[in-house]
Amino acid sequence: MSKQLPLRLGVNIDHVATLRNARGGVLPDPVRAAMVAQEAGADGITAHLREDRRHIRDADIDALMEALSIPLNFEMAATDEMQKIALRHVPHAVCLVPEKREERTTEGGLNVAQDENKLAHFIAPLAEAGSRVSIFIAADKRQIEAAHRIGADVIELHTGAYCDAHAEGDFDLRDRELAAMTEMAAYAHDLGLEVHAGHGLTYDDVRPVAALPQVQEVNIGHFIIGEAVFRGLGPAIQEMRRILDETRA
Ligand code: PXP
Repeated sequence: MSKQLPLRLGVNIDHVATLRNARGGVLPDPVRAAMVAQEAGADGITAHLREDRRHIRDADIDALMEALSIPLNFEMAATDEMQKIALRHVPHAVCLVPEKREERTTEGGLNVAQDENKLAHFIAPLAEAGSRVSIFIAADKRQIEAAHRIGADVIELHTGAYCDAHAEGDFDLRDRELAAMTEMAAYAHDLGLEVHAGHGLTYDDVRPVAALPQVQEVNIGHFIIGEAVFRGLGPAIQEMRRILDETRA
């Protein structure tokens, strides 16, 4: 590849809503967090409206669509209810994720290969309405080919296993996960898919992912919101931005 692709930072604000919902009131306000993120240099905001509304709620999506001047990446499960909501708002991007009620967070990638026909029909109206369609998947050739066949614009590679292995000190596994992402980012890019990455990334493990030349966006939430407790949200985002820029320079 001759020209370096820019690397965008999407800030996921779900866990500002987690904190708000823990008290049942209106504070802290995830929309205010999105505005601070925008100000601090985030290139986009990500929010996941889960079926159980455990963090982001419908009214948050309404308010984000109204307030943001940077793109919203709307994460959702492939259900009729969510499709209706996405079609009402037509966010910049819709990212399809698997969702299980009992999971603590999005545990794995979507099995596009298994549900190829259903997903092809599901995403068609979203793309037609004008949203970019992104699919959250593991670094797996079969899944990437299926995402390509159904007409997705973007794949987001699930970095969770890589981050877990790094945190647990299992560096062999971490390096195998990174090797798979390296190979699959290039493969997806060659197919014409835009490549994003996210889940579990921190200051400590983001560099090798940011160094993958085909990756055009990383979406980071939990770590940044946690780090904001110590250094403030704006500075926490600015530090991530600095690391991404330094890695990419
Ligand atoms: N990307 C996707 C598709 C996700 O589902 C999530 C978690 O909601 C993230 C990125 C961000 O993960 P984290 O909050 O662990 O940074």
